[in-house]
Amino acid sequence: MNITPPSPSNSSPSPRATPAPDIPHSLTVGDFLVEPLGFHDPRPAFSWKLPPSASTQSAYRLRVAAGSKVWDSGWRESDRSVFVPYEGEPLASRERVTWSVCVRDGNGRELGPSREAGFELGLLAVSDWQSDWIRPAAGTDPTTEPVSWLRRDFDIAGKIQRARLYATARGAFEFTLNGQRVGNDYFTPGWTNYHQRIDTLTYDVTELLRPGSNTLVATLGTGWYAGRLPFGIKQRGPHGLNPELLAQLEIFHYDGSSQVIGTDEHWQATFRGPILSSSIYDGEHYDARRQHADWGPVAVTPNGGNARLTPKPFPAVRVTECLRPVRMGTPAPGRFVFDFGQNMVGWVRIKVPAEKNRTITIRFAEMLNADGTLYTENYRAALSTDSHTPARTGTVEWEPKFTFHGFQFVELSGLPEGVEPEPDWVTGVVLHSDLRRTGDFQSSHEKLNQLQSNIVWGWRGNSLEIPTDCPQRDERLGWTGDAQVFAPTAMFNFDCLAFWKSWLEGMRGEQLADGVIPDVIPSVNEELINRSPGWMDAATFIPWDVHVRTGDLTILEDNFEMMERLVGWYRSQSPEGLPSNIGGFGDWLQPHAQARETPGDWLGAFRGDTPRPFLGAAFYARSARILAQASLALGRQTEARRYAKESETVRAAFVREFFDEQGGLRNTLETQTAYALAIAFDLLPEEWVMKAGAHLARLVEEADGHLRTGFLGTPHLLSALDATGHADLACGLLFRETYPSWFYPINQGATTMWERWNSYSHESGFGDRRMNSFNHYAYGAVGQWLYERIAGLTPDPAHPGYKHFRVRPLFPKQLQYAAARLETPYGPAASRWQRSNDEIALTIEVPPNTSATVDTPALDGLKPLCPGGHAFTFKTPLA
Ligand code: BGC
Repeated sequence: MNITPPSPSNSSPSPRATPAPDIPHSLTVGDFLVEPLGFHDPRPAFSWKLPPSASTQSAYRLRVAAGSKVWDSGWRESDRSVFVPYEGEPLASRERVTWSVCVRDGNGRELGPSREAGFELGLLAVSDWQSDWIRPAAGTDPTTEPVSWLRRDFDIAGKIQRARLYATARGAFEFTLNGQRVGNDYFTPGWTNYHQRIDTLTYDVTELLRPGSNTLVATLGTGWYAGRLPFGIKQRGPHGLNPELLAQLEIFHYDGSSQVIGTDEHWQATFRGPILSSSIYDGEHYDARRQHADWGPVAVTPNGGNARLTPKPFPAVRVTECLRPVRMGTPAPGRFVFDFGQNMVGWVRIKVPAEKNRTITIRFAEMLNADGTLYTENYRAALSTDSHTPARTGTVEWEPKFTFHGFQFVELSGLPEGVEPEPDWVTGVVLHSDLRRTGDFQSSHEKLNQLQSNIVWGWRGNSLEIPTDCPQRDERLGWTGDAQVFAPTAMFNFDCLAFWKSWLEGMRGEQLADGVIPDVIPSVNEELINRSPGWMDAATFIPWDVHVRTGDLTILEDNFEMMERLVGWYRSQSPEGLPSNIGGFGDWLQPHAQARETPGDWLGAFRGDTPRPFLGAAFYARSARILAQASLALGRQTEARRYAKESETVRAAFVREFFDEQGGLRNTLETQTAYALAIAFDLLPEEWVMKAGAHLARLVEEADGHLRTGFLGTPHLLSALDATGHADLACGLLFRETYPSWFYPINQGATTMWERWNSYSHESGFGDRRMNSFNHYAYGAVGQWLYERIAGLTPDPAHPGYKHFRVRPLFPKQLQYAAARLETPYGPAASRWQRSNDEIALTIEVPPNTSATVDTPALDGLKPLCPGGHAFTFKTPLA
């Protein structure tokens, strides 16, 4: 093959739309936060990106100012532009910080200063709070999910220079100030484990205040704190029973005086108001006739508890998109069904003709029955119904506050007789944690593009405060296994460093004394502790995967002890070298499994055929290996040696127990998952790897080119085939149309990832309703392979954060082109290849201050190293 080497003379720089100014840009603080208001870290790290003209950085100089505190790093010879630690005096609560950076490029040319970036700290210490936790003194019925209102009227004298509202709740809060909603966040403060950490929000309310009398009102819902969850459990309050509010409005005047309005005994509260109840699972009920009344005293909680109050360290939930219906139907008189054409998470805003006293009912569904009515059986015990009772006849505009639904279809009933549906009656409001989109994958194949879209929507719907399994049924929990398999794919599509760190902090807090990680984080139910391999390993895999993709070391530091304790648990279960007595969820939802439901275990049929002791051993070895790698990355040589040895010992025992010298499985059922994990986790002696790959290929062929893997095996199936010389077979699986395959649900109309390959089929209708989500990201873990091997962008664990990466597209014959673009910590990396009649052209973009190695079979073993700040095109004639 003939290639064009990457030298400046014959590389073709890609045109850039708007020439960027020649200075460092994209300044972020901490975990890539952009100008946060209410920042949490007194000793943050700073990151920036170099302009395209600088291919490397040889030195930087940072200037940080907070009031009279100034820190000037001076010129430092370093190529570091990501997570540069602040070394000035620790920042303090409320401080407004500005900073900028100057750099020198590889030729010593000075670039900068950058534009000045700013951020402001929130309240960092409990002692900053001069307020008390309050709640309505009146009691409530613990079986319903009531909403309360807490209010304070106050006067302002003098000209307001600046005002901040700091707020949080045990429950979910929304504030209005003089009737105007404060901020654009939802479900605040979010879902942490509340007894250890509660997030606080900071809002700039300067513009909402006025001289004279003002009114501050909080609406307080049960939220995740005191709502009904999990499953069909009727009792509410997984974390506590009575929602409480903590808030502090700080007003600063031009004359230097200030005023603080904190929650205390001077507030008033009532349960009487238009929202009758609001529940995450069950929906929200609004009666416009019920005006606020019966304001009474508040109860002050004398001891606010021991939870750490911290400014929210990652983006809150926000509205990120609004959808219009694409179809309407009337399956029964007076029942209007709207189809958004996309499975989504959030709610609908209605704008409908209404009749006084006649309740409008809003129901949701992910799918329709054949007769056009809503299919809701898979919601299980989640009622997912909103309602609005109008106080007068006319047009009603309304949306809920503290519930969310997973749906594509919505049904309205209770409208005036004789009306005809209009498309603008409903708007689909999409809500999730407002994480920045950083990646994009495209190809010449419509279904592959639909798969990518389904993967992205899967994450959007399941990144609401925490990574959830599903967003619609009576679950919506932080299932660890699902997150473990999907994290790398999430990182390719969204900037979720801060999001993962927050969730992992919860995990650390909930790890049991013996090292076990609960099934779901936050932990809500004592029964959800199944000690499951692949689920618990979220504690080791996710810190490592996120580290590799961001270069962040604190995620390893912070979680190191948790990782050690999990590996310690595996060790404690392995008196003979391998874990014995291993339970858990197995290779969850493997299709065509021989496993069956047993009288004592209705989940039996879901656990797949790969024996759990095998899974236990494989994950033990892998987690120990990750721990050794993390130790190395942290410079902990002793631990690195110790854990490398441990992982080697487990690996050797695993091989002895489960493999013969032909790389074939023994003492266990032969499954695709077993081979895939052994190969992908690098557990086999080198000379057996290809043999094991041949066995795996045989199993795939015996299945007529289909997968037979569940949650744990599927993410590794393609890479295991690929790594053992069966890339064609891997591509065949990816492009397979028949059950079970990634395209099969797409052929049945899927717009998100489904929990099962056949959650629905045109042929046989709906799958087992006891476990049938139409928005479950786990099988979307294949997204990683789309970026890494179809388009070709692959991180290099030895140079985390894409400081160096590899471009290794496979050029599958099913495609004319594929392209991926990823906003790395250093800037955009891209890989795009295009097939024409006689050649393939591969164009790559390498961010400044990084380098990339091109490594594709088409280059005949050549692996050109491409410097940063350039684009290159390689052309390879087709044989
Ligand atoms: C959830 C999962 C989870 C599984 C564990 C299910 O109910 O939806 O995706 O991983 O339970 O068995």
